[in-house]
Amino acid sequence: HVAPFYLLAFAGSYLLGSVPFGLVITRLFGLGDIRQIGSGNIGATNVLRTGRKGLAFLTLICDSGKGAAAVLIAGLWGPDLALIAALGSVLGHLFPVWLKFKGGKGVATTLGVVISLSWMVGLVACLTWLLTALTLRMSSLSALMAMLATPIAVWFIHHDLQMVELTALLAILVWVRHHENIKRLIKGEEPKIGQKK
Ligand code: G3P
Repeated sequence: HVAPFYLLAFAGSYLLGSVPFGLVITRLFGLGDIRQIGSGNIGATNVLRTGRKGLAFLTLICDSGKGAAAVLIAGLWGPDLALIAALGSVLGHLFPVWLKFKGGKGVATTLGVVISLSWMVGLVACLTWLLTALTLRMSSLSALMAMLATPIAVWFIHHDLQMVELTALLAILVWVRHHENIKRLIKGEEPKIGQKK
């Protein structure tokens, strides 16, 4: 019976993904509730709005690290479990039980997951983020572009339909969680990276 393993991988990675590092780190450093600042999001981009670059970086590393760790650990039992853990950890970050299912936008966690699944695809995703960020200086837009590039890169690099489906699903989840950013982008009101909202 493989079903219990699938369930265990999903539950374990959901729990790991549900740790809201942005919230924990900013609280630990006495910055209050990050959800009351800027966009109200618990991610690294919003932590940067507190002016604490180091803490934003730490949030980025922890939020992507938890996704990467979930995939690597579950992957020890086979590639199917790695894919389940990828989904579980991103869902954990987006909908954490601890925050009444209102979590982050999933960019760092998805990048961590993707890097663990395939470093080449991870590189494409990170470079897409970086290039967009360097030219247009908007974190949300960079994330949306990186998410768009990911399933396409998976297809060209691995020709693996299951991985394409998974990364497309992750991209859709991240896009949906950016609906407010998308509205602001269309209106031309999205703040630049580091700018207070
Ligand atoms: O990682 C989330 C980023 O894409 C947008 O964050 O705070 O500007 O809504 P924020």
